Amino acid sequence: MPKTLEIRKLHVEIEGREIIKGVDLTVSTGEIHAIMGPNGSGKSTLSYSILGHPDYAVTQGEVLFDGENVLDMKPDERAAKGLFLAFQYPVEVPGVTLASFLRTAVNSIRKKQARWGGQPLKEISAIEFYKRLEEKMNLLQMDPSFAQRYLNEGFSGGEKKRAEILQMAMLGPSIAILDETDSGLDIDALRIVSDGVNALYGPDVGLLVITHYQRILRYVQPQFVHVLVDGRIALSGGPELAEQLEEHGYDWVKDQLGESAVTRQNG
Ligand SMILES: Nc1ncnc2c1ncn2[C@@H]1O[C@H](COP(=O)(O)OP(=O)(O)O)[C@@H](O)[C@H]1O
Ligand SMILES: [Mg+2]
Repeated sequence: MPKTLEIRKLHVEIEGREIIKGVDLTVSTGEIHAIMGPNGSGKSTLSYSILGHPDYAVTQGEVLFDGENVLDMKPDERAAKGLFLAFQYPVEVPGVTLASFLRTAVNSIRKKQARWGGQPLKEISAIEFYKRLEEKMNLLQMDPSFAQRYLNEGFSGGEKKRAEILQMAMLGPSIAILDETDSGLDIDALRIVSDGVNALYGPDVGLLVITHYQRILRYVQPQFVHVLVDGRIALSGGPELAEQLEEHGYDWVKDQLGESAVTRQNG
């Protein structure tokens, strides 16, 4: 059975200012959607609000995942249900290795799932954990020593993104939101991270790839592209829309909107 993330007429405020102004979007497992948009259009606000960041107040609308109201759940419950947004932890955690961070994250999800299922908590054993870690690091073509590094201490931009993708691999979400996963990556790092995302994508995984630039979409190819302008989805289409944006820029979308507004007024 496919699982679906449904965003319905969502409005989000930060510090009393409305940033998301009525967004409708449905992402199912097996699908790749891209949200593109100029800086400040509300892309990150949308992703943080789906994952329950406390600074982002949902004032209207609904977010459902697999038919359940996500907005009533705490962020860690959303993760345990199968939603994923890149790392949410302090920038650097001295003394905590990436591996031990990941093990804690895996166990925290297991704990929730066990409680919901009315089953006793069974923490992942060290052997099972390291087996899975090795398997995923292989899949993502990562050097095993990477997992023994302290979390984000001295990580390059590319390494942070790869750690993010490794976290996704270890948690195995149904729907993953990748917000500007391409930012700060050179072309080689972009290719490695994209290969990793593609390796994790499949019939049981849906992706929402949020980006300002078209370039990541050459590697992680969406079936659906949406353009967010000023807190609203201004246009939706197929992959060709990303190319049109690349060619004409975001002003082209604003021109299109201007024209349709005029057409509506006259017609
Ligand atoms: N934590 C915050 N506090 C105050 N304003 C914010 C915060 N986060 C985002 N904003 C504002 O919300 C608007 C949308 O920002 P954002 O969602 O980051 O856009 P994007 O990701 O598309 O660049 C911007 O005007 C930004 O200044
Ligand atoms: Mg952003």
